[in-house]
Amino acid sequence: MFNRRTKIKELLAAEPANQEVTVMGWVRTFRNSQFIALNDGSCNQNLQVVAALGLLDEETLKRITTGASLKVAGALVPSLGKGQKVELKATAVEILGDSDAEKYPLQPKKHSLEYLREIAHLRFRTNTFGAVFRIRHSLAFAIHRFFNDKGFVYLHTPIITASDAEGAGEMFRVTTLPFNNPPRNEDGSINFKEDFFGKSTNLTVSGQLEGELAAMAFSDIYTFGPTFRAENSNTTRHLAEFWMVEPEMAFYDIEDNMNLAEEFIKYIIKYAMDNNREDLEFLAQRLADEEKQLPQDKRSEFGLMEKLAFVLNNAFERITYTEAIDILLNSPAYKKKKFQYEVKWGIDLQSEHERYLVEKHFRKPVIVTGYPAAIKAFYMRMNDDEKTVAAMDILAPGIGEIVGGSQREERYEKLTARMKAMQVPVEEMQWYLDTRRFGSVPHAGFGLGFERMVQFVTGMTNIRDVIPFARTPKNCEF
Ligand code: 4AD
Ligand code: MG
Repeated sequence: MFNRRTKIKELLAAEPANQEVTVMGWVRTFRNSQFIALNDGSCNQNLQVVAALGLLDEETLKRITTGASLKVAGALVPSLGKGQKVELKATAVEILGDSDAEKYPLQPKKHSLEYLREIAHLRFRTNTFGAVFRIRHSLAFAIHRFFNDKGFVYLHTPIITASDAEGAGEMFRVTTLPFNNPPRNEDGSINFKEDFFGKSTNLTVSGQLEGELAAMAFSDIYTFGPTFRAENSNTTRHLAEFWMVEPEMAFYDIEDNMNLAEEFIKYIIKYAMDNNREDLEFLAQRLADEEKQLPQDKRSEFGLMEKLAFVLNNAFERITYTEAIDILLNSPAYKKKKFQYEVKWGIDLQSEHERYLVEKHFRKPVIVTGYPAAIKAFYMRMNDDEKTVAAMDILAPGIGEIVGGSQREERYEKLTARMKAMQVPVEEMQWYLDTRRFGSVPHAGFGLGFERMVQFVTGMTNIRDVIPFARTPKNCEF
């Protein structure tokens, strides 16, 4: 058995009593031919390994370079140096894998995030990305814990589908037909009957429709999986492949839905604050240092930790879309013509509008409800005014839309009428309509963009830096 070792996180918390331990990890730095800073990814801090002069021969010393992997046995002792409680007094050092110091792309200095994106296969070994991806993991775990504790069933919805859940037509096609000579119908169109599934198929944009089917049996379900959107948006908030959490609840109205979403967001933030303090503090410091470069008026008034605590301790603001438009129309920004996009009832709120509401006007997360039916998906429940739907978007400072959700249209006649009006193929979606035919109930749900949530918690400004390997327009490396 090879893996007889203790993780560095555990050792750093241990009482040093000369106990014999073995560690394995990667060299961050090597100073004075004696002091090795070793990291195994279990936490942000390195373990100081002291290789006493004379312990290692010249040849081995030369091979202890940044990036090399080591197995070290020794005694855990109190540290004499500053900044750590314990250190490892090495008795044996074995080099598991060499790393040519000249060629290693990660030098022991600060690299730009842009550069690190190009070497995303190695960036996990930096402090910043170590922290980001440990926090990402914690948030994912907290999501499962939250729903499990509430008795929700985790439902795996399909990745390949034949329907467009959002009706927005932003789908990646899945096919095995030949590109250059696909089978054609008499009218020249492609004959998908000959395709793998006997019909035209895509990567899913959302697991919601299948989620609704299961909620009509289990009451409360959630999905948490990858979703795909072929929208050509090259922004700091859009990915072509992202992870979405979608709970769906029977016997919920829009207010129940908002309450659950707010409780959920607060729960997972608190989980990270309780379990990832060291990583969060590291990122908070990183952000504070970065902000020092900015002019005074561009700096945020809160640090990362204060921002998270503020969100936990304050109720989200709840307003209607109509109120949001009024606020925008009466804003100094509007009067000074600071908005690039038009503001009037009926528009889809642009990112600049969302940010104004959240960052300038309310200075906290805002839940907007009652959007115009014309700009929202076919499944949203029509309000009594016949103009707006029971939609809810949650907008977060620095991020904009982090959650999109709604109460669903459970009334068969109203749903089919809206589907027809929006040119959703009613015939092909009889399976979905069956839930409205047989024991339909009021129900609601929402989708949380997982990467946007990780951005919010870590303070990372670019969504490409919170997913291990980003897929964006014209970019599919690794
Ligand atoms: O608002 P959206 O499109 O809603 C749905 O897909 C619903 N079916 C959800 C539901 O009710 N079950 O997407 C939900 C969230 C957005 O609020 C945003 O946070 C995130 O998914 N999102 C993206 N994140 C990263 N990159 C993209 N291209 C995203 N598009 C949406
Ligand atoms: Mg949305």
